[in-house]
Amino acid sequence: MSKPVILTGLRANNDLHIGNYFGALLPLIDMAKKHAEEYQVNLFVPDLHSFTTPIDHSQLQAQIMNNLRLFVAAGLPLDNDSVYIYRQSYIPAHSELTVILNSFTGVGEMERMTQFKDKSAKLGADRVSVGLFDYPVLMASDMLLYGATYVPVGDDQSQHIEITRDLAQRMNAKFGEILSPPLEVKKQHEFFGKDQGLRIKDLSDPTKKMSKSDDTGKGIIFLSDDPDAAAKKIMSATTDSVGVIKLDYENQPGISNLLQIHALLSGQRLEEVAKQYEGQTNYSDLKKDVADLVKNFLVNFQKALQAVDTTMLAAKLKASETAMNQTANETLLRVQKAVGLR
Ligand code: TRP
Repeated sequence: MSKPVILTGLRANNDLHIGNYFGALLPLIDMAKKHAEEYQVNLFVPDLHSFTTPIDHSQLQAQIMNNLRLFVAAGLPLDNDSVYIYRQSYIPAHSELTVILNSFTGVGEMERMTQFKDKSAKLGADRVSVGLFDYPVLMASDMLLYGATYVPVGDDQSQHIEITRDLAQRMNAKFGEILSPPLEVKKQHEFFGKDQGLRIKDLSDPTKKMSKSDDTGKGIIFLSDDPDAAAKKIMSATTDSVGVIKLDYENQPGISNLLQIHALLSGQRLEEVAKQYEGQTNYSDLKKDVADLVKNFLVNFQKALQAVDTTMLAAKLKASETAMNQTANETLLRVQKAVGLR
């Protein structure tokens, strides 16, 4: 019996920030370390998704490789045989399954995708590509080729998991059991738990999630930030005029966010950190401590990044991509046979 597959894609066209690191990357790596006995872990770079909205293509190749190095610097165990890392475009079956599934996907369904609506509203009709429209079908192929059961993603991607389930069930109803859908979003949450890292907010506007869509970058700590510059971002983080420190996301989102970042970087529980600072009437001690932690973290992380063994990474990629081509092609063949292509 093969192991259940945990799978996720981390997009490469932007620098990762501490929200991605603690919210997505680290939990996945922890899982890879803890559960490799019971699960197979697929971590991939969805490079074909990278330019569904316009990007600077001269940067893409470097960003893909940089992201892969980030995974390793964050602790991804390269020597673990149950962990696979790969690039989507190196497995042609992703593209092929997408073309097939396209004919079983409704235009109306795709038009109702919230992320499509949001992104296309920002771009303006002339710049909305067919690639962006088709984004969820490619994403469905990413999961279905490997029969992934568990797919840790942010809330903004939940709808894409649901459409993947719909597509798989539709194909199975028509052709027999050929695809294995991921679990529904509610069950995903039960499996992964709601991770504390997902709470990291933008430093300038702590009511918003820390997200690459912030254009100024002032509210975001990127893993590639100069450590001193990052410390300054913390010092100038937006707080409030309450004047007493308390963990209160509702009324003191900025302070609560700093406490959260503190907890993640110091490896303490949020409640413990909150207790240390609660009642203080001076915000600058907390800011200073968090700024130091951030600076330290970045210095160490960037050192680890420099030290990544790129030869070993290249070997792991090659082995993973060979193995994953085999799995993906088996699924693809099953679908090709079902629809009459083979
Ligand atoms: N769409 C995801 C994001 O933007 C990335 C992604 C692509 C993905 N394919 C995937 C995540 C498959 C999980 C499974 O975050």
